[in-house]
This record gives sequence, structure tokens and C-alpha cells, in this order.
Amino acid sequence: MSDPVYTINDLPRFSPWPARLLGLQPWQNRHKTPQEITREYEHDTYGPLLRRALEAANPVSVEQIDAWWLPSDPCLVSVGSAFQSMQPTTARQQYLDLIESTLQRYLPVTALVELGCGYAGVLLRLARASAFHGLPLYGGEFTSAGVRLALLLAEHQKTPVTVTSFDFTQATRTDLLVPPNALIFTSYATHYVPNMPPDFVRTIASWRPRAVVHFEPFFEHNDANTLLGMMRRRYIEVNDYNRDFLTVLHAQQRAGQIEILDERPAVFGANALLPASIVVWKAA
Ligand SMILES: C[S@@+](CC[C@H](N)C(=O)[O-])C[C@H]1O[C@@H](n2cnc3c(N)ncnc32)[C@H](O)[C@@H]1O
Repeated sequence: MSDPVYTINDLPRFSPWPARLLGLQPWQNRHKTPQEITREYEHDTYGPLLRRALEAANPVSVEQIDAWWLPSDPCLVSVGSAFQSMQPTTARQQYLDLIESTLQRYLPVTALVELGCGYAGVLLRLARASAFHGLPLYGGEFTSAGVRLALLLAEHQKTPVTVTSFDFTQATRTDLLVPPNALIFTSYATHYVPNMPPDFVRTIASWRPRAVVHFEPFFEHNDANTLLGMMRRRYIEVNDYNRDFLTVLHAQQRAGQIEILDERPAVFGANALLPASIVVWKAA
């Protein structure tokens, strides 16, 4: 029997969001302040995960940490212009495979760097892939619980990595020392900054990377003339996710600071209303 064909019309069976966006269920709009990021990640997510990992009798893997927070019910996943029902663990693996295959195109490089890396669940997995094996690894993360958990997991996995505090909005102040010709990426992290300061792009460009690859939901990639595009835009607005990063990147390209190498809208999303696009650039 062939797999059922899903459309966005099926989303209300998987998610409360269509009802919230249509005003049928109560919802209070969010504000992504630094305090709110600290509440969401330091206190409600990474802090408890770190405590659980520290109390565990045996070394903990990134897969175990993922299993502690991933939901168990199937989700409606956005794959290009199609929708599929998947277990969250399957969606996570497909997303990780997409990151790995995309980043491989930019090898060889001097180092692999993830900014907004959380507990380095992506970075530490990439470190095990033969294509990236042995590369110096760097992570930058906003929360101290995220940095501590990343370092603990790296120790358990026996993977040398430098993880330090990093804030997209204070990039000029970072003490991350990234060598030229590194491969830098972000994954579902820059969208936590409602308005991206151009200094972030200028600072990263000054490191002279081989390429910078964003796996991020870009507001500007959603077509305001379609129902799906409208819902995705509204979802980003009510959650106060980023609305200008692509505009900032294009302005930096026009100013001769960077060159955009690739731009692929809405490639994959475990959350059908928040698919990641892929945008790749380098310093001009
Ligand atoms: C959804 S998690 C993604 C983690 C990881 N990149 C991944 O794909 O598994 C979002 C991450 O962005 C980080 N973040 C939020 N605001 C940030 C900021 N201003 N600077 C750096 N990281 C930030 C959060 O602390 C969190 O670790």
C-alpha cells in the first residue's frame, strides 16, 4: 500500500498551531528578549538536561539527550513542497543527514564551527562522520547550561571541542578564535534574534571563512500571497522569531561585504510551519 498523501489541511490533527493562529484557541504572543531565551533554554531545557546527564550512572550520548526531549507523537514534516507524517526521531535524523550532505560540499576546510550550537547535538554527531573526522571543532552558545552540557557530552564521546559563550547580537565581543577557511554553520538558532545586527555578518566575514551555511527559517522566503506562506509568516510573527536576516544578508551583498553562494527556500522542517531554508555565503 502506498503512503498516504498529506497536505497542509492535515496540520490541525498534528499541531495546535492552526487553531492558535486563527484565534480559535488562546495564545499570548511571545517576545524573544534575552531574558526569554534564558528562561526557555537555560532554565527550562538545558539546565534540567544537564542535571540529568550529571546524575546519570553511565556516560551520556547526544542521542540519549535528544531522546529525553524529543516528543513521541508523529509530526507533520515539511519536505520541499510536500508534507509527510514521521516520528520525531526520524525527522531529526533526516534533518541531520541534510546538514551533513550540505556541509560536505564545502570541504576541505580548516575547522568546523557551529554558532548557537546548544549542547552541540549536531556538531558532535558531525564529528563522527568520516568526512569531518579529525577537524578542529568550535561551538558558540548563548546559555551557560548549553556550553556545560556540550563540554560534558564531548568528554563522554571523547571528542576534543572548544565551546564558549557566544551571542549573535554581541558578535564583535566574542573571544572565539576561528581560523581562516573554516566552515561555519547555524541551525535553528539565528531565528531567535528578532532583528539581526549587520555587525554579526561583518564579524563572521572578518574571519574569512570558506563558507557560512545557515539552516534557518527565513521569514522573507515565505510567500505572503499563499495561505501556507501567510501562516508561516504569522507563526514567525507571533513567536517573535527573526524577520530580517535575509534582508540583512542581501544588503551586505549589495554593500560588497559578502557573496551569497546558494539560497534554497523552505527545504525541510519537522515543524511544518517553520521549515529551514539553506543560505550559504562567504566574505567578498
Ligand atoms: C533550537 S536550539 C538549536 C540548537 C542547535 N543549533 C541545534 O540545531 O540542535 C536554539 C539555540 O539558539 C541559541 N540562541 C538563542 N539566542 C541566541 C543568541 N542571541 N546568540 C547565540 N545563541 C542563541 C539557544 O540558546 C539555543 O541553544
